[in-house]
Formats: sequence, structure tokens, C-alpha cells
Amino acid sequence: MSTTVVSAEDLRQVYPISKGPFRAPAQLQAVTGVSFALEAGKTLAVVGESGCGKSTLARMVSLIEAPTAGKLTLGGIDVVQASTHDKQALRQKVQLVFQNPYGSLNPRKRIGQILEAPLEINTDLNAEQRAEKARAMLAKVGLRPEHYDRYPHMFSGGQRQRIAIARALMLNPLVVVADEPVSALDVSIQAQVLNLLADLQHDLGLAYLFISHDLGVVRHIAHDVLVMYLGSAVEQGPKEAIFSQPLHPYTQALLASTPGLAGSGQARKRIVLTGELPSPLNPPKGCVFSTRCPHAVDRCHAERPPLQDLMGRKVACFEAEKLASS
Ligand SMILES: Nc1ncnc2c1ncn2[C@@H]1O[C@H](COP(=O)(O)OP(=O)(O)O)[C@@H](O)[C@H]1O
Ligand SMILES: [Mg+2]
Repeated sequence: MSTTVVSAEDLRQVYPISKGPFRAPAQLQAVTGVSFALEAGKTLAVVGESGCGKSTLARMVSLIEAPTAGKLTLGGIDVVQASTHDKQALRQKVQLVFQNPYGSLNPRKRIGQILEAPLEINTDLNAEQRAEKARAMLAKVGLRPEHYDRYPHMFSGGQRQRIAIARALMLNPLVVVADEPVSALDVSIQAQVLNLLADLQHDLGLAYLFISHDLGVVRHIAHDVLVMYLGSAVEQGPKEAIFSQPLHPYTQALLASTPGLAGSGQARKRIVLTGELPSPLNPPKGCVFSTRCPHAVDRCHAERPPLQDLMGRKVACFEAEKLASS
């Protein structure tokens, strides 16, 4: 039986941007209506260029920022409607891992203290029990017992990311939101951390919202993929469908520009993106991708295409069906 751990319906985030003291603020549409369901033991990868709204989505799902609109449930509980007390409990169920673990690990604290801090705040465990849990978690993430007494600067980038993962798991979350967790690491180290994440998912039944601009990384870890462009989902569905036959011209362009992925798969058409990413302060009127799309027709500049089921995934493109059969 599958359990939905996170359900998002039409999530939106709008940031007011000041335009000076006597003018109404502009509205920056960072996320413009994203929906998905994430099940226990599964990974949803969110991909797209810098600025498309990935981190904003991550902050909403990890309860750092309330959505401007939309519905978000975690473990079946409506996050927006939840009482302050329930929100406290929900916060433990979703944990974040960032790109730069060094920035998020207190340099003056030993690893043991870093891992035990969440237990101190949120549980009744005594010092001995907390230490025991921290040591067990060190082993689980592939670190050694003597690391317990060391400081963050004494570790390599990959080890620090292991520590950040360990800390995220101390309160038994249902979901880990990982925002570009391996982007700062060397390729060989990336693979080790991705393997660790996969092992932990298998052992603990964790759900991952895995954010990356790198499709090469996503290919190893994702079950489902959500492709974002300028705050919108343009294509989403099972990894196999999207990697073997991307239907949205933007997904095709992303795949074509990823080394090692370009050229595989029959329907892969080489699209080189031209033109600049439009500003989310002033998004294109029709399809968000219409200003850079080589296949855009008049309708694409006037009307926003809805996400529709097509060939085992959802895609927001008026021309997708025609392109798929051409
Ligand atoms: N706190 C904020 N205030 C105003 N604008 C923001 C804020 N956070 C993000 N943005 C804007 O929202 C858009 C999406 O940003 P972000 O979610 O960080 O994208 P990504 O993680 O995909 O690079 C960008 O245009 C960014 O400048
Ligand atoms: Mg980001």
C-alpha cells in the first residue's frame, strides 16, 4: 500500500517587491501553482534553471514559509489550517538538507552536540540516551565513532554533508527536503552521498523532495520528476517516461544540455535555448516558455497551456501531442 506523505495542490508564492516609497510594490511570482503527491519511500526530483522557484517550493514544503495560496498536507495534516501546536509537531516530520552543509553546521559545536541538539529540544531523552542515538546515527551515515568529538572544520565536504543528513534524521522525519544537496561536491563524492541517501531511503522508508538543476544527478535518485520553468510545472511524471521521451520543449532542451544524457533516446531533439529567462516580475502572457520555444505558435503567446495527461505523464504544451508524433 502506498502512503502519500506530502500532497501539494496549486501551491503559490508571491513576493512583494518594493518599487520605492510612493509606489505600490510589484508582485514577484516565484511559484505559480505547483501540485504533486509524494509517497513514503519515494523521491520526487524538482529540476529547472536557477531562479525557477525550486528553493521557494522547498521552503514551503519544509514549513519555513507559508504559501501565499494553495493547499499543503504533510502526513495527512493540512499545514495551513494546523494549530500552532500541531505545526510544531509537523516541523519535526519534515527536515531540510542544504547545498552548503558548512554554512549550516555551527563551527563551535562538536558533531555529537550538533546531532543531539534536536533531541534536547524536542524529546525527553537524557544525556546518555541522546549520546547513544547520536553515535548510532553516525554509524548509519557512514561516519566513525571517533567523529563524535570532532568539529565541523575537521571534515571534508562529503563528510559534512553526511553530518547534515544525520542531523536531519535525528527526529525520524517522514520527509527530507534536499535542496541541491550534492551540487557543491566533486562528482566521485556526489555518487557516495547519493548512494547513502538511497540506502537510508530504503532502510527508513523516507520520502525525498530532491532539488537539483542537474538532470544527471536526478537520473540516479528520482522516481518522479517535476520540471519547473519560471515558477510553473511544465512537465511532471515518472522518471522513465520523462527521460526516455521528454515531451515539453523545455524538458527536451534541459536533457539535451546535460552531458551524458544528450543523444540517448529516440525522440531527443537538439534544442539550444536562446534568449534570456524572462523575469518572474513580468512573466510572458501565454505559455511561460513561449518566448524561448522553437515550436511556439500564435496560441502559445496568448494562452497559458494547462498541465494535461499525455503518454504517461503531465505536460503543459499545446503542441506536445503533435511534436510527439512528428
Ligand atoms: N525572499 C524573496 N523575496 C523576493 N524574491 C525572492 C525571494 N526568494 C526568492 N525570490 C525570487 O523568486 C524566484 C525563485 O527563486 P528560487 O526559489 O530561489 O529559485 P531556484 O531555487 O530555482 O534558483 C527568483 O526570481 C528569486 O529572485
Ligand atoms: Mg535554489
